[in-house]
Amino acid sequence: MIGVFDSGLGGLTVVKELMKRLPGRGVVYFGDNARYPYGGKSGALITQYAIENTEFLRAQGAKVLVVACNTASAHAVAALRERFPDMPVYEVVGPALARAAAISEGRVGVIATTGTVESGVYERGMSSLRPEATVFSQACPLFVPLVEEGWVGKPETESIASTYLLPLHSQDIETLILGCTHYPFLRRTIAKIMGPHVRLIDPAIELVNELQRRLVADHAFDAMLTKHAGYRFHASDRTARFERIATEWLGTDVRLAEPSH
Ligand code: DGL
Repeated sequence: MIGVFDSGLGGLTVVKELMKRLPGRGVVYFGDNARYPYGGKSGALITQYAIENTEFLRAQGAKVLVVACNTASAHAVAALRERFPDMPVYEVVGPALARAAAISEGRVGVIATTGTVESGVYERGMSSLRPEATVFSQACPLFVPLVEEGWVGKPETESIASTYLLPLHSQDIETLILGCTHYPFLRRTIAKIMGPHVRLIDPAIELVNELQRRLVADHAFDAMLTKHAGYRFHASDRTARFERIATEWLGTDVRLAEPSH
């Protein structure tokens, strides 16, 4: 099984991509909605949560880990790799950065949670991939609740997005990484504000590309992932809201399994 965790619902955007592109690979999902949001918490606390979430997923039979949360990817991946050396760990920052480095001349924008922006992970990553490139980052903390409340496309959301994106617009960026699980829902609004010349990068798509390449190239890795094992969903707080939004986003009936933690 592929074990996927996120701070709550957002990582379901990664599950959706997995369902579409790697159908028949089992997924066990853990949404840590009881401790959501991660976006404003310290790196140390997020790392502790990430380790606990991974232990839970391992106990559920996960053999490969996908850190779907950008904030957890920014802070906790090194600690997870050290702690669980037998488990391949995939995350959402590296693949998006690699794509941005491949298609940009030198001006890359990133939008993300406050915690991700403050971690400096994109700047560090880009300076080793393409030292001549400049990263312009902007935290957009209101985007997550707007998406969860179903406010995509409302004039208020467009106005908030314009305020956040204006500084990036004036920097003449070529690519923009949608560095948070929820932001691809706002793709149309963001594209309208940034204009057609700015290429938007969805980390979920880049992550699944990376997984897919490894599955083709590495038989042992392929064998680690059960086929036709289905999808299981867990949350640290079993709420009707979680099930309702998850069902809406995935387009399939989502019922949460037994609680954890
Ligand atoms: N999942 C988080 C991320 O991708 C966003 C929500 C949160 O702040 O917990 O960064």
